[in-house]
Amino acid sequence: MPNQDSPTRYGAVAQGFHWLIAALVVTQFVLANLADDLPIGAHKLALLARHKSFGMTVLMLAILRLLWRLKNPQPQLPAGMAPWERHIARATHIAFYVLLFAMPLTGWLMSSAKNYSVSWFGLFTWPNLIGPNEHAFDLLRSTHVILSDLLFAIAILHILAALKHHFWDKDDVLVRMVPFTKSEKRT
Ligand code: HEM
Ligand code: HEM
Repeated sequence: MPNQDSPTRYGAVAQGFHWLIAALVVTQFVLANLADDLPIGAHKLALLARHKSFGMTVLMLAILRLLWRLKNPQPQLPAGMAPWERHIARATHIAFYVLLFAMPLTGWLMSSAKNYSVSWFGLFTWPNLIGPNEHAFDLLRSTHVILSDLLFAIAILHILAALKHHFWDKDDVLVRMVPFTKSEKRT
């Protein structure tokens, strides 16, 4: 399985980044919602500490993924796709990248504004980005929540689009992102 992307297929590195980040984003929603249902206490704080560590991991992976993407040309979209579909696909991917940065950054800023430490799995602590500020905390917290709703909506759209490509259009768009498969034009 080649590491590099080709004009017709994502390589192992891009696939690895994609599925690792996707799994972590799902984990982020699960952890945040589990923590949300709990009263303030050790268990809630432990879940949020995990949420912060995974969230900072997403930030680091998103930086690496973006660098990789800038150095490796993306596979072409199928010729039969309508211009509006191409625009939506592009807009969705750009929105994903913006959110993969904005979610961790608003989370990190929110924690800094409360002077709550952000550790990375107990190995080291990230520095505070801003000083304590109750007003900024409220604003950043609402932003984090609103952006998470947006991320959720875009992810649903993205998954439905991938399934439409596979089952309706019967093209290679889904398969070429899946490891250990072969891209053969199916239409
Ligand atoms: C991709 C990364 C991230 C995603 C997808 C994400 C998603 C979420 C979601 C869905 C919630 C629950 C929102 C609600 O109440 O409806 C939440 C809450 C929270 N997140 Fe994140 N988050 C990410 C990264 C981070 C990071 C890096 C930090 C801190 C360093 C952080 C700190 C928090 C905190 C403290 C809450 C609880 C807010 C509260 O209810 O007081 N998050 N996050
Ligand atoms: C919520 C987590 C997810 C995120 C953040 C995400 C993000 C992205 C991004 C940014 C791209 C653009 C290519 C790249 O730069 O890697 C992409 C492509 C792709 N994603 Fe996802 N994705 C997620 C979940 C999924 C799921 C669950 C599926 C499968 C149903 C999926 C299927 C695909 C496919 C097939 C492509 C390739 C599209 C193309 O060739 O242009 N993704 N994804």
